Amino acid sequence: MDEEGELILDGEGNAIPVTQTVGVGNSMSVNGARSSSRFFTLFDTGGAHEGWLTSAELKLLSEWLDIGAQYYNDPFAAPVN
Ligand code: HEM
Repeated sequence: MDEEGELILDGEGNAIPVTQTVGVGNSMSVNGARSSSRFFTLFDTGGAHEGWLTSAELKLLSEWLDIGAQYYNDPFAAPVN
């Protein structure tokens, strides 16, 4: 926008988007499900996503986080960090 708050337009009359990097912290942690409450509380009673995942799905995610949230079934294929 210019000093008067009006959108600055390109040659075709479209607003020119100004992009900037926005940092987002992780809601899940490889330290395990208990360290990932920002993710899991969303699915609790009264949470924004209540009922969106079944208890079996939440359990699967919990267990995946508890074993280190690996993307590979073969531990030798996993990247070393
Ligand atoms: C069509 C489906 C979905 C829609 C429209 C949706 C929408 C939203 C919105 C609007 C928010 C931010 C506002 C708020 O916190 O109330 C949010 C946050 C979040 N959603 Fe969803 N969501 C969807 C599906 C899912 C699914 C399937 C998952 C997990 C598997 C998920 C995980 C999350 C998490 C973890 C946050 C919080 C992120 C943070 O704290 O940075 N969402 N979602």
